[in-house]
Amino acid sequence: MTVSRPQPLLSVADLHTWIATDSGPVRAVDGVTLEVAAGEAVGLVGESGSGKSMLAKTVMGLLPDRAGTSGSVLLDGVDVLTASEKVRQSMLGPKVAMVFQDAGRALNPVVRIGRQITEGMVRHLGISGSEARERAVALLTEVGVPDPRRRLSNYPFQLSGGMRQRIMIAIALACEPDLLIADEPTTALDVTVQRQILDLLDRVRTTRGMGLVLISHDLGLVAGRTDRVAVMYAGRMVEEGPTDAVFDSPQHRYTEALLASTPSLDAPRARRMRVIEGALPDPRRPPEGCRFAPRCGAADAACGVPGADVLRDGVLGHRHACVHPVPLSGVGVPAGALAPADETRS
Ligand SMILES: Nc1ncnc2c1ncn2[C@@H]1O[C@H](COP(=O)(O)OP(=O)(O)OP(=O)(O)O)[C@@H](O)[C@H]1O
Ligand SMILES: [Mg+2]
Repeated sequence: MTVSRPQPLLSVADLHTWIATDSGPVRAVDGVTLEVAAGEAVGLVGESGSGKSMLAKTVMGLLPDRAGTSGSVLLDGVDVLTASEKVRQSMLGPKVAMVFQDAGRALNPVVRIGRQITEGMVRHLGISGSEARERAVALLTEVGVPDPRRRLSNYPFQLSGGMRQRIMIAIALACEPDLLIADEPTTALDVTVQRQILDLLDRVRTTRGMGLVLISHDLGLVAGRTDRVAVMYAGRMVEEGPTDAVFDSPQHRYTEALLASTPSLDAPRARRMRVIEGALPDPRRPPEGCRFAPRCGAADAACGVPGADVLRDGVLGHRHACVHPVPLSGVGVPAGALAPADETRS
């Protein structure tokens, strides 16, 4: 069954992103298709190295020099992979903005915080410097920066990691982007501030119809804050669908394993979680067929056939790329039972 969805704000189709290295290209994103509608929150999860950040950076047009791409990334109908530098620059801020995983390093060390927040507003929103400063103060207050007026004259090195991360979020929201990509946006923050910022993102999303891609290792956080979730493994999308459906009845064996390695609310806190044995394949030489097969208890010869890992359509847009999907009786975790962020911390 196909579900009719509004015209997507972001439409990524068969995207490949690779990085040339001395030992061959690293296939960081290897044939990913993903859509995000205006006002929709989509979670992007998967183990470290699965290609989440490279996918985000491709959408932003911020790849290293040695990177190459194929496929298409339509942002409001404009393909960012082929757009001129001028068009791309004009989109960064008002069309799409990103909170980077390494917030500390994304700030310019020699420019005062105030200017880093206001310069985009002046350029893209056509407002005066003083108006932009007032808006910057309001934004910093919203992201929980105390004494915001004084902070405007600080340099990044004068601030703690948590403060820098909040500043990055303020910068990303400054030009009122249509789409925000938040790559582990709250990892350096304590639980209260984390909740405050995620609430703010929710508010902006619903009041302004902003699309949100929330990248996180924290499945509990994604469960409570997104409409749909996409699971990546070794550069491939292995499962995607409504968040509740994916978490309540995962179809791909990798998603099942990922959920089993996440603590749930009703489990004793000290309980040892099931770890996923083995490691991601070498991204320069991924195995044929399903890339998870070498680590999967359910795998057989059929999983190694080229094309075994194409996404198959399921009900309500729940797609998976598993030859031997988890039986529907399911071993999933009700999305509501996943521990919130604070419970998953060690
Ligand atoms: N600059 C680079 N040069 C070479 N390889 C890179 C570079 N950046 C990322 N990679 C590789 O691309 C693949 C995807 O990396 P990416 O950073 O997108 O993973 P991720 O899912 O964001 O992981 P994490 O959860 O740790 O942030 C990995 O194999 C990684 O080693
Ligand atoms: Mg990353």
